[in-house]
Order: sequence, then structure tokens, then C-alpha cells
Amino acid sequence: MRAMTVVPGKADSASVGEVPEPAESDGSILVEGLLAGICGTDIEMCSGLFGSGRQGSDKLVIGHESLGRVLEAPAGSGLTTGDLVAGIVRRPDPVPCPACARGEWDFCRNGLYTERGIKEMDGYGAERWRVDPYYAVPVPGQLGRLGVLVEPASILAKAWEQVDQVGARSWYGPEHVLVTGAGPIGLLAALIATQRGYTVHVLDLATDGPKPQLVRDLGAEYLNDLADLQVAPDVVIEATGAGRLVVDCAKLLPPAGVMCLTGISPSPAAIDVQLDALTRQLVVRNAALVGSVNAAKRHYAEAVDVLLAADPAWLERLITRSVPLSDWPTALVKEPGDIKVVVDLQR
Ligand code: BGC
Repeated sequence: MRAMTVVPGKADSASVGEVPEPAESDGSILVEGLLAGICGTDIEMCSGLFGSGRQGSDKLVIGHESLGRVLEAPAGSGLTTGDLVAGIVRRPDPVPCPACARGEWDFCRNGLYTERGIKEMDGYGAERWRVDPYYAVPVPGQLGRLGVLVEPASILAKAWEQVDQVGARSWYGPEHVLVTGAGPIGLLAALIATQRGYTVHVLDLATDGPKPQLVRDLGAEYLNDLADLQVAPDVVIEATGAGRLVVDCAKLLPPAGVMCLTGISPSPAAIDVQLDALTRQLVVRNAALVGSVNAAKRHYAEAVDVLLAADPAWLERLITRSVPLSDWPTALVKEPGDIKVVVDLQR
């Protein structure tokens, strides 16, 4: 069968690979791959900067943002032939560490976790894949192809949970939320913020293309320049990973403000920071910076609820390009106006 393959650590190795049918050891549910979303992690992997292969194979099937249709599922798995499904990305480390032992693989302490399509396990970017029922997320039929957004939305469900948990250290009633970056992660962060009734401000460099209107259609303010933000944001969801912006936003945090870092910048940049002054400001304001990666099982279920509560027409506009599997490496090359690019695994 055909699959999206890459040789981890090797730049420009993305190709349409011929691979064996999925191994039964991957799980008892057999799935027909429908879509795989592409994100910055995939682009880094295909540049040879990130990811690691499976033992005994130089090729890895990539793809961790998944949507498929069940072909075979055992009785009692909660799924049946024809159901839509998305796969959970991470698997607990085999030791397991105390966090993984409690299902908190997103907080794995020893780094020995594995990830479908990223770290030591084949991913979901294939014509067929298998998954264990525990790691299969049922996607309601009404979501249709929007189910490919479950995994990215799970990242924000976790991020918001962390913000809430940090916020709960004191009286917590956020009003203004700043989201930096209007890519898929930033827009989904903003979606959740508006669903929660906050006043939302989204900062991005784009002056044209679909982003400004997508933000405004959420009822949020769209900004190109941080200097135009007229309020101190109680919560910042940072989705760019750009060091300068991270520092500038940290400086804006009011007392008890929380900033959640969800983005990683692909290329390291050196910036000058007056760290003593920044530290003083964070200390005297009880401000918190918290990093967030990956998601636990409950966040996938929350992600489904977020997508079900959203305007499907708005979500559709996030998927700006669909590329056939036969030509999938073109999905890695950014085009103007791209937000979420997906690979159609049936073409
Ligand atoms: C994925 C996460 C994963 C992270 C690091 C992200 O793109 O969404 O699930 O943990 O990459 O590998």
C-alpha cells in the first residue's frame, strides 16, 4: 500500500512509499486512511531536523493528525465498520514513569515515550493503518472531514486545561485573551477562548489572505502589531515560538497573568533580553509562563466537543488545501493563504 514516508534525520527524504500492510501488533482496529493533516512538526521532520525512526527500518510512515474510517473493529471496541476515527499520537514509555503509568503520557518524565508518525512508531499517513481501541478516538459522523482537526484541537484542550490549573492558584476570572499566531493552533486557541466567552485578540503578521477575516468572524480582534493591543491580557496563548514575541508578551502580563507556550520556532535566533528586569516583573506580578506539548486521552474527547460546538463553515475555512497522497510532498511547501493543508490518502 502507499504511505507518506520519510527517512528520519535525512533532509528532503519525503516520498510516496510502498510499505507493507499495517502490522496486527499496531492494534485490532483496521482503518482506511482518509486524511492526514500537515503541521510544523512534519515539516521539521522532512527537513531532517526532528523525529526518529522505527527499529530495523530507515523509513518511517509520517502523519500524526489523522482521520480514517473503520474497516474492521472487534466487538466491544466501541467502534464499528464505517465509523470515523482519529488516532492518539503518543504512547506511554515502557518503564513506565509515574506520569505515563497514570495515562499522563503527555507529561512523560523519562522521554522514552513513542509517538505515531514522529518518534519510533509508524504514523497514520497511509492508505490503511491499525490502532488499539484505547488509542482510537471516535469522531462523530457529522464532523466529516473536519475530524482531521481533532488532534490539533487536542493540543489546545490541554493548553487551556493548564492555563486553568495555573489560574486556579488564586482568584481566576480571565477577561482578555491574547493569542499570538493565526495558524491552525492559534486559530483553534482563539476558537476555544471565544467559546468560553472571553474577549479575544489575535496577533499575526498576515495582512491579507484568510486569517484576518477568520479571526473577525469569531468576534475577535485581529492585530498586526502588539503595540496596538489596548489591554493587558490575563491569558496569552503563544503559538509562534518566536523568542522576541514571547518576551514582549511576557512583559505585558498583568498580576496573576498566565502565558502558555505552545509553539516552537524552527530556527534558533539570538535576541537581547534584560532578564533581570523581566524576572523582577514576573515575580512581583505572580505571572506564570507554562510550556505545553501533546495531549492525553481526555483532551481528544474535549477536542471533539470543541469542534462540534463550532460553526462547521468556519472550521472548513481552516482547511485551505488538500493534496493527493500521490503528490503529498507538495503539502510541505508553504503557499500563500495556507492555514491547514491536508493530504487526501485516497487519491
Ligand atoms: C504534535 C504532538 C507531539 C509534538 C512533539 C506535535 O506536532 O501535535 O502530539 O507531541 O509534535 O513531537
